[in-house]
Amino acid sequence: MTKKKIAVFISGKGSNLQSLIDAAAENDFPGSINLVISDNSKASGLNHAHNKSIKCETIEYQKCINKEDFEQKILNKTMKENIDIICLAGFMRILSGKFITSFNGPIINIHPSLLPKYKGLNTHQRAIESGDKVSGCTVHYVTKNVDDGEIILQKSVPILPNDTVEDLAARVLKVEHEAYAESIKKILN
Ligand code: GRF
Repeated sequence: MTKKKIAVFISGKGSNLQSLIDAAAENDFPGSINLVISDNSKASGLNHAHNKSIKCETIEYQKCINKEDFEQKILNKTMKENIDIICLAGFMRILSGKFITSFNGPIINIHPSLLPKYKGLNTHQRAIESGDKVSGCTVHYVTKNVDDGEIILQKSVPILPNDTVEDLAARVLKVEHEAYAESIKKILN
């Protein structure tokens, strides 16, 4: 099996990155993590990549001329590594339509809600405040509209009485780690 080359984009702690690194260590996983890109040099998730000697690139928005320059730099890195698929995993930048069409492959994202509910930020708080009984995560294709592309896979969890945002976030994060690897298998196999 020829493994597809995956780039994971992060901004923070990178627990989803770690779950993908673990999944990619399995022989039957259809991809390998070849590149990690962060827009934040302090992202603790970079350590997960360093620990496995995965190539990392930090491209800080503030050090770029503008968004186009920032995205071109990212694109150049992905092209240099012949990346087949980009996985956004807590990457806190919105990619432009130009970037999405310029990259020659799928770009997917994981979002901590059952889309189309609660696009954007503070998803757990909004789910609890709405009195929802169920929440979860969604892996979807990235389009120029935020959190709006075709859904690849969803996993749900209960919202329990008296759940705090942190309780729910932890419960959802657990299924995120399963959902992301399963989604990649689903689209690459
Ligand atoms: C996850 O909840 C993901 O759904 C969202 O950002 C968070 C990233 O967490 N897009 P981590 O950095 O992978 O731990």
